[in-house]
Amino acid sequence: MRPLFQAQGSFTAERIEDPEAERFQPLLERCEDFFQLCFGRPARPDEGRQLPLERPPGVPSEAGHLIAVRDTSGQWVGVLEGLQGYRKPGEAYLGLMLLAPHVRGLGLGAALLHGYEDWLRSEGMHVLRVGVSEPNTSALRFWRRMGFEDEEWVGPMRQGELNYRVLRMRKTLTSPAATP
Ligand SMILES: CC(C)(COP(=O)(O)OP(=O)(O)OC[C@H]1O[C@@H](n2cnc3c(N)ncnc32)[C@H](O)[C@@H]1OP(=O)(O)O)[C@@H](O)C(=O)NCCC(=O)NCCS
Repeated sequence: MRPLFQAQGSFTAERIEDPEAERFQPLLERCEDFFQLCFGRPARPDEGRQLPLERPPGVPSEAGHLIAVRDTSGQWVGVLEGLQGYRKPGEAYLGLMLLAPHVRGLGLGAALLHGYEDWLRSEGMHVLRVGVSEPNTSALRFWRRMGFEDEEWVGPMRQGELNYRVLRMRKTLTSPAATP
């Protein structure tokens, strides 16, 4: 585990290797509200192990990153799963950002996103995209508050037991010219 950044003084974001992904399982099971809303079912028994296996085809594993957010007691209370260099060099994609219900609504999401964006900049990324599920209206408000702009509606597509559209959103981190 490699510490990447801190948030709100008491949360640490650490890089996790793909084989450790199953350690996210208890967190994913605690987020049943999110899985019901976005997939129409709870987390699958192997949801954690699947996290790094569901990257788009053709993306090399070294392009992916898994980040665990832990509290001062060491409990994993959040996950960020993303890609660098997708679909172009210098562009990043955040596939999942999920916090345990008891740490939502406290500004932690914004603090983590700032740390994550700084880390991506240090890695030479100048654009960050997210895909927002149409039913997830509170997430859509969150990304808009964080400065993401609508790019394109994609779908409808099958997501678990549901069919809906996904809004691709985009935020400029730095201009390419400003990247050393
Ligand atoms: C989206 C998320 C990362 C934002 O982080 P955060 O620190 O909670 O951010 P905020 O405090 O700004 O709250 C964001 C929204 O979460 C919702 N929220 C707040 N507390 C919550 C709780 N205890 N349980 C569920 N949702 C909650 C609110 O509706 C809020 O939106 P609103 O203020 O526009 O109504 C976090 O709420 C989360 O993990 N949500 C579930 C997973 C998710 O939807 N991820 C985004 C996938 S695209």
